[in-house]
Amino acid sequence: MKYIFFYTLLLSLVSCKNSTKTYNEGAILYKRHCENCHMSDGSGLEALYPPLAKADMLKNLGVKAACIIKYGLHGKILVNGIEFDTGMDPVQNLSDVEITNILNYIHNAWGNRKQFIQLNEVTHTLENCKTQIK
Ligand code: HEC
Repeated sequence: MKYIFFYTLLLSLVSCKNSTKTYNEGAILYKRHCENCHMSDGSGLEALYPPLAKADMLKNLGVKAACIIKYGLHGKILVNGIEFDTGMDPVQNLSDVEITNILNYIHNAWGNRKQFIQLNEVTHTLENCKTQIK
């Protein structure tokens, strides 16, 4: 019984450390690759760039947001009831690990909350969206 307790404690400590790591690394990558348009507080920019903070579209996309990062997004979209049609080009040269970290950041920053995403979920999702998603 005692061992199970310590084992559980150890496991939760390890997973907590991993989630802090992926979140922090995601924050750095977000600053470098996304912040110009989606802003440091995820609020977007007026009618040009959609918000990520408390955005229904991002929430509904979940892990599929990986496809937008890797393959871009074009065409009309609706985010929190507001229409956007600027188009986003693919963000080049990001590894699956980096995309995972960015996802874990944007899904948990600015009041957003989502269970942390694993690398294999991202790799699997990206294999299924090799063409642009809409
Ligand atoms: C050059 C500006 C630009 C950059 C850089 C950029 N985006 Fe976007 N993003 C857009 C635009 C514009 C749209 C809306 C696309 C459309 O009109 O169909 C969008 C849409 C999105 C969406 C779906 C809509 C929403 O608000 O939920 C997500 C998610 C997203 N971007 C995430 C990212 C992430 C993560 C990065 C960095 C890895 C990034 N973007 C970099 C401009 C940008």
